Amino acid sequence: MAYNLLKGKRGIIFGALDEKSIAWKVALKAKEEGAEFVLTNAPLAMRMGAINKLAEECNAQIIPADATSVEDLENLFKQATEILGGKIDFVLHSIGMSPNIRKGKDYGDLNYEWFQKTLDISALSFHKVMHVAEKQDAMSEWGSIVALTYIAAQRVFPDYTDMSQAKAVLESIARNYGYRFAKLKNVRVNTISQSPTMTTAGTGVGGFDAFFDYADKMSPLGNATAEDCANYTIMMFSDLTRKVTMQNLMHDGGFSSMGISEDVVNMIYQNQKQEANS
Ligand code: NAI
Repeated sequence: MAYNLLKGKRGIIFGALDEKSIAWKVALKAKEEGAEFVLTNAPLAMRMGAINKLAEECNAQIIPADATSVEDLENLFKQATEILGGKIDFVLHSIGMSPNIRKGKDYGDLNYEWFQKTLDISALSFHKVMHVAEKQDAMSEWGSIVALTYIAAQRVFPDYTDMSQAKAVLESIARNYGYRFAKLKNVRVNTISQSPTMTTAGTGVGGFDAFFDYADKMSPLGNATAEDCANYTIMMFSDLTRKVTMQNLMHDGGFSSMGISEDVVNMIYQNQKQEANS
């Protein structure tokens, strides 16, 4: 059911790669709620072509931009405000990539050039996006900027390797730029810390299936899906959350407040029984 929560609002959505992407679901919901927006992704990622289907469905234009390039971002914001006919009300940063994870590097054996790439793509890009938006005075008063993050910023998930540091930096950027943008334009900046989700970026992490199931069993409401995340993000873009800023918002079915759950205990007992019987 749609509520017209984003009626008349203009946005930029980063990171829709394919139908599984969280940004893809956000775009569909934003459209449903009355927003107009442009879609953007790295030129390389667009070669897959899936984003054209989304653009058609949402009646949105696509502007390629490598989020690590300030020049690309300048062009993106300039074009977006022209195409949409005014300043931007919401921005979704849904970008993450670690060459070390892609190449299966262990945490004790990271390639440091790749580590810097991880930080640049997954964290500093968020600063660059806001820097360009500020310099071009492209954000509307009371606009909303959201980036997606993961609890590995606070706790250890060994296979998440250098992305853990990237997420910690991302969340810190949200707080610090959040202060600045609030003072400048009453713009709010938050991160949403999402459950493990079956997407290209998610399933690329070693042992993903195991920590997806573990999180699901640990969370009293179960893992939040990409659709759930889209709903939460839309609420953050809407006028109903105007005084929420500089927060890392847990969207995880309760996972982050748990110590242990009965489901996890039962799983361990079952495994022990199976081992004893074999
Ligand atoms: P995804 O793989 O669909 O999206 C990642 C996007 O980042 C892709 O569209 C990719 O093209 C884009 N990207 C990579 N390098 C880029 C660059 N240089 N410039 C512009 N875009 C670039 O996967 P997903 O899961 O939808 O990821 C979205 C966000 O959600 C990421 O920040 C991810 O870390 C975060 N997240 C994902 C979770 C999961 O389990 N899937 C859990 C918590 C957070």
